[in-house]
Amino acid sequence: MKNLKNALLLKQLYLLKQLGYSYTSVSTFQEDEPDLTLPNSLEKLKKQALECHLCDLSKSRTKVVFGEGNTEADIMFVGEAPGATEDSSGKPFIGRSGELLTKMIENVLLIPRSEVYLSNIVKCRPRDNAEPTATEAHTCHPYLVKQIALIKPKIVVALGATAYHYLSGDDSAISKVRGSLYKQQGYTLVPTYHPSYLLRNPSAKKEVFEDLKMIRGLM
Ligand code: URA
Repeated sequence: MKNLKNALLLKQLYLLKQLGYSYTSVSTFQEDEPDLTLPNSLEKLKKQALECHLCDLSKSRTKVVFGEGNTEADIMFVGEAPGATEDSSGKPFIGRSGELLTKMIENVLLIPRSEVYLSNIVKCRPRDNAEPTATEAHTCHPYLVKQIALIKPKIVVALGATAYHYLSGDDSAISKVRGSLYKQQGYTLVPTYHPSYLLRNPSAKKEVFEDLKMIRGLM
């Protein structure tokens, strides 16, 4: 909750700055702390995320892309951030990279897309499809942590370096870590390439097929 608390504090400080304050006492923020516990149901968590204004991405988004799929899924896929198509529909992975991901799930894992859960590191689209900043990713992180805690997947597939980095805290190149299993609290993290990387580098598809076949073996 530290990230959420810091983000709320920062928001209050910016508000005061806009109002002309150049000094404030720390004690101002020690009283009447808001309840920072995130809800214990996915529905309520989604509602809270849909109303979120904790970072700048909320100013330019069209829709919050919370995530979708089987809320009791054994496998959860985490991407980087919604793109333009996702931003206008509110659904994750429905653009070109989403189509490829769906094919891979259905043809290699041999389960319908609706059987897994799909989400992202940040729930709002960064302008110009930029990589989310560290502040945006950290501010949004409590929502993802809570999503994982409520869905309780056995396997979380990190799609691409950004997803792997924020889920593991490790900066290693995705090419080095892909296809390995990392024990996290309550689930196994499996990094692989992001489908948008595969659209640009189709020759890397065979590695993702290998990673997914390995995941299928674990199921
Ligand atoms: N890319 C992502 O990382 N997530 C989406 O939802 C769509 C494209």
